[in-house]
Amino acid sequence: MKHKISDKIQIEFGDCRKLIKGLNDESVALTITSPPYNLQKNYGTYKDDVSLEKWEELISDTGKEIYRVLKPNGSFFLNVSPIPDKKTKEIIPLDSIAYYLMKKQGFYLRNKIIWHFNNMQNCVNRLSGRWEAVLWFVKDIDNYVFNLEDIRVPYITKNDKRLEGGTGRNPTDVWNFDDPESDFWYFNRVNNMTKNKMGLTEHPCIYPLAMIERIIKMSSNIGDTVLDPFLGSGTTIVAAQKLDRKGIGFEMDSKFDEIIKKRLKQEAASKELFI
Ligand SMILES: C[S@@+](CC[C@H](N)C(=O)[O-])C[C@H]1O[C@@H](n2cnc3c(N)ncnc32)[C@H](O)[C@@H]1O
Repeated sequence: MKHKISDKIQIEFGDCRKLIKGLNDESVALTITSPPYNLQKNYGTYKDDVSLEKWEELISDTGKEIYRVLKPNGSFFLNVSPIPDKKTKEIIPLDSIAYYLMKKQGFYLRNKIIWHFNNMQNCVNRLSGRWEAVLWFVKDIDNYVFNLEDIRVPYITKNDKRLEGGTGRNPTDVWNFDDPESDFWYFNRVNNMTKNKMGLTEHPCIYPLAMIERIIKMSSNIGDTVLDPFLGSGTTIVAAQKLDRKGIGFEMDSKFDEIIKKRLKQEAASKELFI
């Protein structure tokens, strides 16, 4: 089932490994995605409870196609996190595994961004997990889009005269503590309370729009095509539409169709308010 939402936005329901074959070589500037993590989340059609080998196969097959469809100067951002093994509760570093899988496809890692958040588990027998990784891969380590000027953040020492006329700091990939204005990638997870407020209760794992906006500004230009093969509730294409990029999304379960369209409509309406 293919939906052309507008001249710029297209969504398709089914297995992304098949759907992506319909995209031309080197036709996408930027891919951003968060695949299932094997955490037994309820995604409907997709059963989020497979062996590690099967998970690796899914990521590897998708990564191979992402490499093919990306432009030579394109980037691929993969949001993935360490997870506890279902039986032993050992921590499986999915981000490290994903790194090796993407290396085999030919990608180079540009940054491992730590996305920190506060609202998660409170463990009693190990340290509580408070971060996920966003792996930034490029096809060509010497040639990729990086619009640093578009994503600078305010200086910490605002009164330092030497900084006058400067355009702000590089938003680094490093630790920091609870300061939304900091250089740290501080975007709270979309927790249940926020989901209720936003009317987004239909999807169990939504990543923050602000985080995706930063990535799109940083690694693509106006008019470029942004792809998300594991679209979920549509965050990536909502951000793409907001920032005047083209968006393509694939999602296994068509029950998310309604929420994706609702979010795109809301975004379009809010844009009109500012014209
Ligand atoms: C972690 S969620 C993505 C959430 C998304 N980032 C958001 O903000 O809403 C992963 C999604 O991948 C979908 N999925 C799983 N396997 C898939 C496949 N082979 N092809 C397409 N979508 C798939 C699931 O249905 C689920 O909605």
